[in-house]
Amino acid sequence: MDFRQRLARTAHHPLWPPDSQSCVIGAAHYGQAIFEGLKAYQHADGSIWAFRAELNAARFAKSAERLGLPELPKELFFQSIQQLVCMDSKWLSQTPETSLYLRPFMIANESFLGVRGAEKVAFYVIASPAGPYFENGVSSVPIWVSTHHTRAAKGGTGYAKCAGNYAGSLAPLQEARQNGCAQVLFLDAEHGQYLEELGGMNIFIVLKDGSLITPALSDSILAGVTRQSIIEIARAEGRRVEERQIGLEEVRTGLASGEVTELFACGTAAVIFPISILKGLNFEYSSPNAGPANVSLSLRQKLTDIQYGRVKNSSNWMRQLSSAHN
Ligand SMILES: Cc1ncc(COP(=O)(O)O)c(C=O)c1O
Repeated sequence: MDFRQRLARTAHHPLWPPDSQSCVIGAAHYGQAIFEGLKAYQHADGSIWAFRAELNAARFAKSAERLGLPELPKELFFQSIQQLVCMDSKWLSQTPETSLYLRPFMIANESFLGVRGAEKVAFYVIASPAGPYFENGVSSVPIWVSTHHTRAAKGGTGYAKCAGNYAGSLAPLQEARQNGCAQVLFLDAEHGQYLEELGGMNIFIVLKDGSLITPALSDSILAGVTRQSIIEIARAEGRRVEERQIGLEEVRTGLASGEVTELFACGTAAVIFPISILKGLNFEYSSPNAGPANVSLSLRQKLTDIQYGRVKNSSNWMRQLSSAHN
């Protein structure tokens, strides 16, 4: 059964909130729930644009496949965000670093108790105005390294943007906060040695020659749109970028020797922020964030210049959602 058929079966209650009884069982008990996160940006002429929304649409389809949900046709993904942005465009302004955060999501929407994929699903998009992630300019952030919990394992759902991945990251996040850290960095499930990603962001290290290394994608890492864009921007400016395993020990020795000059996290919400310290139960590794040209902040500037239309992007990363006169 394809998406339209499964959605049609939900048509008797197409509006929010979905049938609470159905939703409780299909999505809340068995976790058949996926979502996306992207932003709409207003440019100086008043027009509104999404950043690489086709990557979000493709990731949504991949998440759906992994969770046994139907694939949403990509044109419906684009139409839905465009319609919402047109209705809610007054929430956008040209205040620097502000945007409209868009959250498309699909949930099982059917009453049943046996464990199986739902035959009725619902798709929604909600939005929220988003202010600057940092109130007083970008600052570096301490990160907690979880050595007891992992986020995802080989063959699991780590590469999908599904609700369960986040549920499993919340107790470690509490632990991080108790230790004065804003976010959690997870290590690989098999060896407990290699960097994977933060609960909601990807990670990079910067070497003193200005090259970048980021964990290679696998079925336990979410393919961030920001991560992909940073790789492409960095390569275009002539930097070497490696996608490979990074051991926590390699980071420790690299920071101690001065070979590693910066660590940073990246994702739609914060774009990029430098990491000041990696902290675990028995260790603290400080990052100088002192590369020759502060690579993370210069990449952040390049990325936001594209997102806010301050420079033209020749790769057509921006998708227009509304014209200057809407
Ligand atoms: C687990 C996880 N990793 C990485 C990211 C960064 O992805 P993106 O750059 O597409 O926001 C996110 C945010 O969506 C995430 O939830």
